[in-house]
Amino acid sequence: MSPFALRTEQTTRIVDPCAHGGGYDVRVESGALRRLGELLSAAAPASAYVVIADDRVAGLHGHAALDALAHAGLTGHLLTFPAGEASKTRETWSTLTDALLRLGVGRDGCIIALGGGVTGDLAGFVAATYLRGIALVQAPTTLLAMVDAAIGGKTGVDAPLGKNLVGAFYPPRLVITDPDVLHTLPDAQLRAGLAEAVKHGAIADRAYFDALPEAAEALMSRAGDALESAVRRSIAIKGAVVTEDPLESGRRAILNFGHTIAHAIERVTDYAIPHGFAVAMGLVIEARIGESLGVSEPGTAAAIEDALHALGLPAALPHDVAAIALVGATRSDKKTRASQVRYALLRRIGEPARADDGSWTIAVDDSVVLDVLESDGETG
Ligand SMILES: NC(=O)c1ccc[n+]([C@@H]2O[C@H](COP(=O)([O-])OP(=O)(O)OC[C@H]3O[C@@H](n4cnc5c(N)ncnc54)[C@H](O)[C@@H]3O)[C@@H](O)[C@H]2O)c1
Ligand SMILES: [Zn+2]
Repeated sequence: MSPFALRTEQTTRIVDPCAHGGGYDVRVESGALRRLGELLSAAAPASAYVVIADDRVAGLHGHAALDALAHAGLTGHLLTFPAGEASKTRETWSTLTDALLRLGVGRDGCIIALGGGVTGDLAGFVAATYLRGIALVQAPTTLLAMVDAAIGGKTGVDAPLGKNLVGAFYPPRLVITDPDVLHTLPDAQLRAGLAEAVKHGAIADRAYFDALPEAAEALMSRAGDALESAVRRSIAIKGAVVTEDPLESGRRAILNFGHTIAHAIERVTDYAIPHGFAVAMGLVIEARIGESLGVSEPGTAAAIEDALHALGLPAALPHDVAAIALVGATRSDKKTRASQVRYALLRRIGEPARADDGSWTIAVDDSVVLDVLESDGETG
Protein backbone atom coordinates (compact mmCIF):
# COMPACT_ATOMS: atom_id res chain seq x y z
CA MET A 1 0.00 0.00 0.00
CA SER A 2 1.23 3.49 -0.76
CA PRO A 3 2.51 5.27 2.34
CA PHE A 4 0.35 8.09 1.10
CA ALA A 5 -2.93 6.47 1.93
CA LEU A 6 -3.65 9.84 3.52
CA ARG A 7 -6.81 11.63 2.52
CA THR A 8 -5.95 14.63 0.37
CA GLU A 9 -8.07 17.23 -1.40
CA GLN A 10 -7.61 18.57 -4.91
CA THR A 11 -8.57 22.06 -3.80
CA THR A 12 -7.73 23.80 -0.54
CA ARG A 13 -9.59 27.00 0.30
CA ILE A 14 -7.53 29.67 2.04
CA VAL A 15 -9.66 32.13 3.95
CA ASP A 16 -8.07 35.57 3.95
CA PRO A 17 -10.01 38.75 4.76
CA CYS A 18 -7.61 40.75 2.57
CA ALA A 19 -8.31 38.57 -0.47
CA HIS A 20 -10.80 39.40 -3.20
CA GLY A 21 -13.98 37.58 -2.15
CA GLY A 22 -12.54 36.71 1.27
CA GLY A 23 -10.22 33.94 0.16
CA TYR A 24 -8.76 31.92 -2.67
CA ASP A 25 -8.46 28.34 -3.85
CA VAL A 26 -5.24 26.41 -4.18
CA ARG A 27 -5.83 23.85 -6.87
CA VAL A 28 -3.46 20.89 -7.26
CA GLU A 29 -4.04 19.00 -10.44
CA SER A 30 -1.78 17.13 -12.79
CA GLY A 31 -2.06 18.84 -16.21
CA ALA A 32 -3.50 22.06 -14.73
CA LEU A 33 -1.06 24.20 -16.73
CA ARG A 34 -2.57 22.92 -19.96
CA ARG A 35 -6.02 23.96 -18.64
CA LEU A 36 -4.77 27.37 -17.53
CA GLY A 37 -7.11 29.33 -19.81
CA GLU A 38 -10.18 27.48 -18.62
CA LEU A 39 -9.26 27.81 -14.94
CA LEU A 40 -8.50 31.53 -15.31
CA SER A 41 -11.67 32.39 -17.20
CA ALA A 42 -13.64 31.10 -14.23
CA ALA A 43 -11.61 32.36 -11.26
CA ALA A 44 -9.79 35.44 -12.57
CA PRO A 45 -11.50 36.96 -15.60
CA ALA A 46 -9.32 39.69 -17.13
CA SER A 47 -8.84 41.65 -20.35
CA ALA A 48 -5.25 40.43 -20.69
CA TYR A 49 -2.96 37.99 -18.90
CA VAL A 50 0.73 38.61 -18.40
CA VAL A 51 2.81 35.58 -17.52
CA ILE A 52 5.91 36.59 -15.57
CA ALA A 53 8.60 33.89 -15.46
CA ASP A 54 12.36 33.69 -15.07
CA ASP A 55 14.22 32.85 -18.28
CA ARG A 56 14.75 29.23 -17.27
CA VAL A 57 11.09 28.50 -16.47
CA ALA A 58 9.96 30.54 -19.48
CA GLY A 59 12.04 28.24 -21.71
CA LEU A 60 10.69 25.07 -20.10
CA HIS A 61 7.03 25.89 -19.44
CA GLY A 62 6.27 29.39 -20.78
CA HIS A 63 5.04 28.19 -24.15
CA ALA A 64 2.64 25.71 -22.51
CA ALA A 65 1.13 28.56 -20.49
CA LEU A 66 0.81 30.87 -23.52
CA ASP A 67 -0.64 28.05 -25.65
CA ALA A 68 -3.23 27.32 -22.97
CA LEU A 69 -4.24 30.99 -22.87
CA ALA A 70 -4.49 31.20 -26.66
CA HIS A 71 -6.46 27.96 -26.76
CA ALA A 72 -9.10 29.50 -24.47
CA GLY A 73 -9.20 32.65 -26.64
CA LEU A 74 -7.48 34.79 -24.00
CA THR A 75 -4.89 37.52 -24.64
CA GLY A 76 -1.53 36.47 -23.23
CA HIS A 77 1.94 38.06 -22.92
CA LEU A 78 5.18 36.72 -21.47
CA LEU A 79 7.68 38.84 -19.53
CA THR A 80 10.93 37.28 -18.37
CA PHE A 81 13.87 38.17 -16.14
CA PRO A 82 17.16 36.36 -15.36
CA ALA A 83 16.67 33.32 -13.07
CA GLY A 84 17.99 33.52 -9.52
CA GLU A 85 17.59 35.31 -6.19
CA ALA A 86 19.81 38.14 -7.52
CA SER A 87 16.83 39.22 -9.65
CA LYS A 88 14.48 39.64 -6.66
CA THR A 89 15.16 43.38 -6.48
CA ARG A 90 13.51 46.75 -6.91
CA GLU A 91 15.50 47.07 -10.16
CA THR A 92 13.77 44.04 -11.70
CA TRP A 93 10.48 45.28 -10.24
CA SER A 94 10.90 48.58 -12.11
CA THR A 95 11.89 46.84 -15.36
CA LEU A 96 8.77 44.66 -15.15
CA THR A 97 6.38 47.46 -14.21
CA ASP A 98 7.74 49.60 -17.08
CA ALA A 99 7.19 46.67 -19.46
CA LEU A 100 3.57 46.35 -18.25
CA LEU A 101 3.01 50.07 -18.86
CA ARG A 102 4.45 49.74 -22.37
CA LEU A 103 2.12 46.79 -23.03
CA GLY A 104 -0.75 49.02 -21.96
CA VAL A 105 -1.98 46.56 -19.33
CA GLY A 106 -4.86 48.17 -17.46
CA ARG A 107 -6.48 47.65 -14.06
CA ASP A 108 -8.49 44.81 -15.55
CA GLY A 109 -5.29 42.88 -16.39
CA CYS A 110 -4.01 39.86 -14.52
CA ILE A 111 -0.48 38.72 -13.69
CA ILE A 112 0.41 35.05 -13.60
CA ALA A 113 3.52 34.33 -11.55
CA LEU A 114 4.88 31.19 -13.23
CA GLY A 115 7.93 29.91 -11.41
CA GLY A 116 9.65 29.34 -8.10
CA GLY A 117 9.52 31.46 -4.98
CA VAL A 118 11.64 34.19 -6.55
CA THR A 119 9.07 34.69 -9.30
CA GLY A 120 6.13 34.39 -6.91
CA ASP A 121 7.55 37.04 -4.58
CA LEU A 122 8.69 39.39 -7.35
CA ALA A 123 5.72 39.08 -9.72
CA GLY A 124 3.42 39.15 -6.69
CA PHE A 125 4.93 42.46 -5.61
CA VAL A 126 4.59 43.77 -9.15
CA ALA A 127 0.89 42.83 -9.08
CA ALA A 128 0.45 44.39 -5.62
CA THR A 129 1.84 47.74 -6.75
CA TYR A 130 1.12 48.08 -10.48
CA LEU A 131 -1.71 50.64 -10.87
CA ARG A 132 -2.18 50.21 -7.08
CA GLY A 133 -2.82 46.51 -7.50
CA ILE A 134 -4.09 44.21 -10.24
CA ALA A 135 -5.25 40.61 -10.13
CA LEU A 136 -2.59 37.99 -9.37
CA VAL A 137 -2.54 34.25 -9.97
CA GLN A 138 0.26 32.14 -8.53
CA ALA A 139 1.42 29.19 -10.66
CA PRO A 140 4.29 27.71 -8.65
CA THR A 141 6.81 25.46 -10.44
CA THR A 142 9.25 24.48 -7.66
CA LEU A 143 8.24 22.18 -4.83
CA LEU A 144 9.26 24.91 -2.38
CA ALA A 145 6.95 27.41 -4.04
CA MET A 146 4.09 24.88 -4.26
CA VAL A 147 4.14 23.96 -0.57
CA ASP A 148 5.26 27.29 0.82
CA ALA A 149 5.92 30.50 -1.12
CA ALA A 150 2.77 30.54 -3.28
CA ILE A 151 0.45 30.29 -0.28
CA GLY A 152 -0.15 32.98 2.27
CA GLY A 153 0.04 36.17 0.25
CA LYS A 154 3.53 37.36 1.14
CA THR A 155 5.21 39.17 -1.75
CA GLY A 156 8.30 41.31 -1.95
CA VAL A 157 11.86 41.91 -3.00
CA ASP A 158 15.28 41.92 -1.35
CA ALA A 159 17.29 45.03 -0.45
CA PRO A 160 21.07 45.38 -0.05
CA LEU A 161 20.54 45.29 3.74
CA GLY A 162 18.62 42.00 3.73
CA LYS A 163 16.15 39.62 2.14
CA ASN A 164 12.42 40.31 1.77
CA LEU A 165 12.68 43.76 3.36
CA VAL A 166 10.38 45.55 0.91
CA GLY A 167 7.03 44.00 0.11
CA ALA A 168 3.34 43.58 0.80
CA PHE A 169 0.77 41.02 1.83
CA TYR A 170 -1.08 40.52 -1.44
CA PRO A 171 -3.21 37.41 -1.78
CA PRO A 172 -3.69 35.84 -5.23
CA ARG A 173 -7.08 35.19 -6.87
CA LEU A 174 -6.10 31.57 -7.35
CA VAL A 175 -3.11 29.27 -7.00
CA ILE A 176 -2.71 26.79 -9.86
CA THR A 177 -0.36 23.97 -9.00
CA ASP A 178 0.56 21.44 -11.67
CA PRO A 179 2.81 18.74 -10.20
CA ASP A 180 3.78 17.64 -13.74
CA VAL A 181 6.21 20.57 -13.99
CA LEU A 182 8.29 19.00 -11.22
CA HIS A 183 9.63 16.51 -13.81
CA THR A 184 12.00 19.22 -15.05
CA LEU A 185 13.01 20.40 -11.57
CA PRO A 186 16.57 19.37 -10.60
CA ASP A 187 16.77 16.78 -7.77
CA ALA A 188 18.49 19.17 -5.37
CA GLN A 189 15.60 21.63 -5.72
CA LEU A 190 13.09 18.85 -5.16
CA ARG A 191 14.87 17.78 -1.97
CA ALA A 192 14.98 21.41 -0.80
CA GLY A 193 11.17 21.49 -1.05
CA LEU A 194 10.90 18.22 0.84
CA ALA A 195 12.61 19.87 3.83
CA GLU A 196 9.57 22.16 4.10
CA ALA A 197 7.30 19.12 3.81
CA VAL A 198 9.13 17.48 6.73
CA LYS A 199 8.59 20.72 8.64
CA HIS A 200 4.85 20.58 7.88
CA GLY A 201 4.64 17.02 9.19
CA ALA A 202 6.67 17.96 12.26
CA ILE A 203 4.45 20.91 13.22
CA ALA A 204 1.06 19.43 12.39
CA ASP A 205 0.76 15.83 11.28
CA ARG A 206 2.63 12.82 12.63
CA ALA A 207 1.20 10.43 9.99
CA TYR A 208 2.42 12.68 7.19
CA PHE A 209 5.79 13.04 8.88
CA ASP A 210 6.11 9.24 9.00
CA ALA A 211 4.91 8.78 5.41
CA LEU A 212 7.49 11.10 3.84
CA PRO A 213 10.67 9.06 4.46
CA GLU A 214 8.82 5.82 3.62
CA ALA A 215 7.91 7.31 0.25
CA ALA A 216 11.39 8.78 -0.41
CA GLU A 217 12.01 6.75 -3.54
CA ALA A 218 8.58 7.41 -5.06
CA LEU A 219 8.86 11.11 -4.23
CA MET A 220 12.26 11.50 -5.85
CA SER A 221 11.26 9.46 -8.91
CA ARG A 222 8.23 11.74 -9.29
CA ALA A 223 6.33 8.57 -10.23
CA GLY A 224 2.81 7.68 -9.18
CA ASP A 225 0.83 9.96 -6.93
CA ALA A 226 3.22 10.26 -3.96
CA LEU A 227 4.53 13.71 -4.88
CA GLU A 228 1.08 15.07 -5.72
CA SER A 229 -0.30 13.73 -2.43
CA ALA A 230 2.58 15.29 -0.49
CA VAL A 231 2.03 18.64 -2.23
CA ARG A 232 -1.66 18.50 -1.31
CA ARG A 233 -1.02 17.50 2.28
CA SER A 234 1.56 20.26 2.79
CA ILE A 235 -0.74 22.83 1.20
CA ALA A 236 -3.57 21.76 3.50
CA ILE A 237 -1.30 22.19 6.53
CA LYS A 238 0.13 25.57 5.53
CA GLY A 239 -3.31 26.65 4.32
CA ALA A 240 -4.95 25.86 7.66
CA VAL A 241 -2.34 27.81 9.58
CA VAL A 242 -2.49 30.81 7.24
CA THR A 243 -6.30 30.77 7.29
CA GLU A 244 -6.24 31.13 11.07
CA ASP A 245 -3.65 33.88 11.04
CA PRO A 246 -3.46 35.65 7.66
CA LEU A 247 -1.34 38.58 8.85
CA GLU A 248 1.13 36.60 10.95
CA SER A 249 0.18 37.88 14.37
CA GLY A 250 0.11 34.57 16.24
CA ARG A 251 -0.18 30.94 15.22
CA ARG A 252 1.48 31.44 11.84
CA ALA A 253 4.77 31.61 13.77
CA ILE A 254 4.81 27.80 13.93
CA LEU A 255 5.66 27.78 10.23
CA ASN A 256 8.99 29.27 11.32
CA PHE A 257 10.03 26.05 13.03
CA GLY A 258 13.64 25.44 11.93
CA HIS A 259 13.83 28.85 10.33
CA THR A 260 15.49 31.01 13.00
CA ILE A 261 18.56 28.79 12.72
CA ALA A 262 18.09 28.31 8.94
CA HIS A 263 18.12 32.06 8.31
CA ALA A 264 21.22 32.40 10.51
CA ILE A 265 22.96 29.63 8.53
CA GLU A 266 22.06 31.37 5.28
CA ARG A 267 23.46 34.66 6.59
CA VAL A 268 26.77 33.32 7.92
CA THR A 269 27.38 31.31 4.72
CA ASP A 270 26.38 34.29 2.56
CA TYR A 271 23.48 32.26 1.10
CA ALA A 272 25.81 29.58 -0.31
CA ILE A 273 23.57 26.89 1.24
CA PRO A 274 20.16 26.54 -0.45
CA HIS A 275 17.25 27.56 1.76
CA GLY A 276 15.76 24.05 1.97
CA PHE A 277 19.06 22.56 3.08
CA ALA A 278 19.48 25.27 5.71
CA VAL A 279 15.93 24.49 6.87
CA ALA A 280 16.82 20.79 7.20
CA MET A 281 19.73 21.66 9.50
CA GLY A 282 17.59 24.19 11.35
CA LEU A 283 14.85 21.64 12.06
CA VAL A 284 17.31 19.32 13.79
CA ILE A 285 19.08 22.06 15.75
CA GLU A 286 15.81 23.65 16.91
CA ALA A 287 14.45 20.24 17.92
CA ARG A 288 17.59 19.79 20.01
CA ILE A 289 17.11 23.25 21.52
CA GLY A 290 13.56 22.18 22.42
CA GLU A 291 14.81 18.96 23.98
CA SER A 292 17.51 20.72 25.97
CA LEU A 293 14.87 23.11 27.39
CA GLY A 294 12.61 20.18 28.27
CA VAL A 295 9.97 21.63 25.91
CA SER A 296 10.26 18.93 23.23
CA GLU A 297 9.82 15.24 23.86
CA PRO A 298 13.15 13.33 23.94
CA GLY A 299 13.84 11.67 20.59
CA THR A 300 12.24 14.47 18.55
CA ALA A 301 15.53 15.60 17.00
CA ALA A 302 16.58 12.01 16.22
CA ALA A 303 13.26 11.35 14.46
CA ILE A 304 13.72 14.45 12.31
CA GLU A 305 17.31 13.49 11.54
CA ASP A 306 16.18 10.03 10.40
CA ALA A 307 13.49 11.48 8.13
CA LEU A 308 15.91 13.96 6.56
CA HIS A 309 18.51 11.25 6.05
CA ALA A 310 16.00 9.04 4.22
CA LEU A 311 15.14 11.97 1.95
CA GLY A 312 18.80 12.71 1.17
CA LEU A 313 18.79 15.99 3.08
CA PRO A 314 21.69 17.26 5.20
CA ALA A 315 21.06 17.32 8.95
CA ALA A 316 24.45 18.41 10.26
CA LEU A 317 26.02 21.85 10.04
CA PRO A 318 29.01 22.29 7.73
CA HIS A 319 32.21 22.23 9.85
CA ASP A 320 33.27 25.71 8.85
CA VAL A 321 30.19 27.29 10.42
CA ALA A 322 31.26 28.64 13.84
CA ALA A 323 28.68 28.23 16.62
CA ILE A 324 29.30 31.69 18.02
CA ALA A 325 28.86 33.33 14.61
CA LEU A 326 25.62 31.43 14.11
CA VAL A 327 24.23 32.58 17.46
CA GLY A 328 25.21 36.14 16.53
CA ALA A 329 23.34 35.81 13.26
CA THR A 330 20.13 34.70 15.01
CA ARG A 331 20.09 38.09 16.72
CA SER A 332 19.25 39.94 13.53
CA ASP A 333 16.26 37.71 12.89
CA LYS A 334 12.89 39.41 12.50
CA LYS A 335 11.51 37.24 15.32
CA THR A 336 13.75 38.99 17.89
CA ARG A 337 11.81 40.93 20.52
CA ALA A 338 13.05 42.70 23.64
CA SER A 339 16.62 41.49 22.98
CA GLN A 340 15.62 37.84 23.28
CA VAL A 341 15.52 35.44 20.38
CA ARG A 342 12.20 33.64 20.15
CA TYR A 343 11.93 30.22 18.56
CA ALA A 344 8.98 28.26 17.23
CA LEU A 345 9.53 24.87 18.88
CA LEU A 346 7.83 21.49 18.96
CA ARG A 347 6.10 19.79 21.85
CA ARG A 348 6.53 16.53 19.96
CA ILE A 349 6.43 15.43 16.32
CA GLY A 350 3.08 16.66 14.96
CA GLU A 351 2.49 19.20 17.70
CA PRO A 352 3.90 22.70 18.26
CA ALA A 353 4.92 23.93 21.71
CA ARG A 354 3.20 26.90 23.38
CA ALA A 355 4.89 29.34 25.77
CA ASP A 356 3.40 29.78 29.26
CA ASP A 357 1.74 33.01 28.12
CA GLY A 358 0.07 31.12 25.25
CA SER A 359 2.27 32.56 22.53
CA TRP A 360 3.54 30.37 19.70
CA THR A 361 7.19 31.23 20.19
CA ILE A 362 9.48 30.66 23.14
CA ALA A 363 12.33 32.94 24.26
CA VAL A 364 15.62 31.08 24.32
CA ASP A 365 18.90 32.26 25.86
CA ASP A 366 21.91 32.40 23.56
CA SER A 367 23.80 30.16 25.98
CA VAL A 368 21.30 27.33 25.42
CA VAL A 369 21.68 27.59 21.66
CA LEU A 370 25.45 27.73 21.97
CA ASP A 371 25.50 24.60 24.18
CA VAL A 372 23.37 22.73 21.64
CA LEU A 373 25.58 23.80 18.75
CA GLU A 374 28.77 22.91 20.60
CA SER A 375 27.49 19.46 21.51
CA ASP A 376 26.85 18.91 17.77
CA GLY A 377 26.71 15.25 16.87
CA GLU A 378 25.74 13.84 20.29
CA THR A 379 22.29 12.88 19.11
CA GLY A 380 23.74 11.09 16.09
N1 LIG B 1 6.40 34.37 -0.01
C1 LIG B 1 6.66 33.40 0.84
O1 LIG B 1 5.88 33.10 1.75
C2 LIG B 1 7.94 32.63 0.67
C3 LIG B 1 8.11 31.44 1.38
C4 LIG B 1 9.28 30.72 1.17
C5 LIG B 1 10.25 31.18 0.29
N2 LIG B 1 10.05 32.36 -0.38
C6 LIG B 1 11.06 32.86 -1.33
O2 LIG B 1 11.21 31.90 -2.37
C7 LIG B 1 12.51 32.03 -2.93
C8 LIG B 1 13.08 30.66 -3.16
O3 LIG B 1 12.22 29.92 -3.98
P1 LIG B 1 12.73 28.79 -4.98
O4 LIG B 1 13.63 27.86 -4.26
O5 LIG B 1 11.55 28.26 -5.66
O6 LIG B 1 13.71 29.62 -5.95
P2 LIG B 1 13.62 30.05 -7.48
O7 LIG B 1 12.37 30.70 -7.80
O8 LIG B 1 14.88 30.81 -7.75
O9 LIG B 1 13.71 28.66 -8.25
C9 LIG B 1 14.89 27.89 -8.15
C10 LIG B 1 15.46 27.56 -9.53
O10 LIG B 1 14.64 26.54 -10.13
C11 LIG B 1 14.30 26.91 -11.45
N3 LIG B 1 13.00 26.29 -11.71
C12 LIG B 1 11.81 26.64 -11.21
N4 LIG B 1 10.87 25.78 -11.59
C13 LIG B 1 11.46 24.85 -12.36
C14 LIG B 1 11.01 23.69 -13.01
N5 LIG B 1 9.74 23.27 -12.94
N6 LIG B 1 11.91 22.97 -13.74
C15 LIG B 1 13.21 23.37 -13.81
N7 LIG B 1 13.70 24.44 -13.16
C16 LIG B 1 12.83 25.18 -12.46
C17 LIG B 1 14.32 28.40 -11.46
O11 LIG B 1 14.55 28.90 -12.75
C18 LIG B 1 15.50 28.70 -10.52
O12 LIG B 1 16.71 28.64 -11.25
C19 LIG B 1 13.29 32.91 -2.00
O13 LIG B 1 13.44 34.19 -2.58
C20 LIG B 1 12.42 33.00 -0.76
O14 LIG B 1 12.58 34.22 -0.06
C21 LIG B 1 8.92 33.07 -0.21
ZN1 LIG C 1 11.32 28.00 4.40
